[in-house]
Amino acid sequence: MSTAHLFAPLKLGRYTLSHRVVMAPLTRMRAAVPGNVPTDLGVEYYSQRASSGGFIVSEASQVTPYGQGYPATPGIHSAEQIAGWKKITDAVHAKGGIIFMQLWHTGRISHPSFQPGGVQPVAPSAITPAGKSFTPSFQMVPFETPRALEIGEIPGIVEAYREGARNALAAGFDGVELHGANGYLIEQFLHSKTNHRTDAYGGSVENRTRLLIEVMTALVDIWGADRVGVRLSPFGVVNDAGEADPIGLYSHVLTRLAPLNIAYVHLIESRNTDAGEAGAPLAINDLRPFWSGTLILAGGFVGASADAAIRAGQGDAVAFGRHFIANPDLPRRFQLGAPLNPYNRATFYGGDAAGYVDYPALEPAEAAE
Ligand SMILES: Cc1cc2nc3c(=O)[nH]c(=O)nc-3n(C[C@H](O)[C@H](O)[C@H](O)COP(=O)(O)O)c2cc1C
Repeated sequence: MSTAHLFAPLKLGRYTLSHRVVMAPLTRMRAAVPGNVPTDLGVEYYSQRASSGGFIVSEASQVTPYGQGYPATPGIHSAEQIAGWKKITDAVHAKGGIIFMQLWHTGRISHPSFQPGGVQPVAPSAITPAGKSFTPSFQMVPFETPRALEIGEIPGIVEAYREGARNALAAGFDGVELHGANGYLIEQFLHSKTNHRTDAYGGSVENRTRLLIEVMTALVDIWGADRVGVRLSPFGVVNDAGEADPIGLYSHVLTRLAPLNIAYVHLIESRNTDAGEAGAPLAINDLRPFWSGTLILAGGFVGASADAAIRAGQGDAVAFGRHFIANPDLPRRFQLGAPLNPYNRATFYGGDAAGYVDYPALEPAEAAE
């Protein structure tokens, strides 16, 4: 298997990566509760995965207590959380890694049991998501109807992201990625299925894109454009999301993002299995013409398909989720053509060290083969 393209250096905004194997943002629900503070186990987990020059996007982290929708997800809104994350960023830097924080507000994918004062979660429109929500005690309950944000509250949402971005800077991150994917608040505004507003934030693609651009502009204010990225899932249906005209919407989104000159756009492919054939067309290829900047791809890749995608110019780097959970030394394994540890879904979310920091790295002897 050739991985020459995966191991070519890449300029990513202000940084130069020594390879293109990116660690995708991965929620693991193992923060210390109460407080939702990253732990020392988290330090070990990220440190294990920070191979030299590698690019890591942190697990999604709520910018405000109102933006939490899952138990034990870390936040970036308190002094304790900033201090906890600082240990992680220090450990990643000690290994030569580069780490951006993924900034998160779950919007309607939450439950009053997470909300200060037990209030309803907020969303662009009062539309109940299909399916079930977590509670803080890891129970599953039906979603409740969110409260539609008043237009006068939207500047406060932008401010929450700005504050999160400022805190990420204090926590020693190298940049921030806006979580604009997977059915959370930003995508709830983008998609026609979840945004039924009739004001300046709903209706036309221009209006539905407005919050995204306002938030991105705030992040660029804090960090500078060359340390800001955004993650989008144009064909996403996760968390009851849905867009009637993905190419129409996302071609507009990418066109509006272009003048911001951000470090990268990170697009999630619709498939989520490893069945994709190396070099096969991706759904997101249709959007490639609308983005001339750096593009990170994600979703169902293995080493060969990732290398082929880069060779074919489909993207510049590839993020790996599930394989990075199970393989702390994933870039090295790709480089050597070494076998991958299988991942165990049962330990993806919540729990302790098992399935978190105990996946083995290659022995030096195996690595030398
Ligand atoms: C356990 C788990 C947690 C995830 N958490 C996040 C997250 O916090 N933010 C995000 O944007 N995507 C999240 N994702 C999606 C992954 O980043 C990635 O896009 C997805 O797993 C597909 O890539 P893969 O086929 O390489 O696993 C998560 C996926 C998994 C399996």
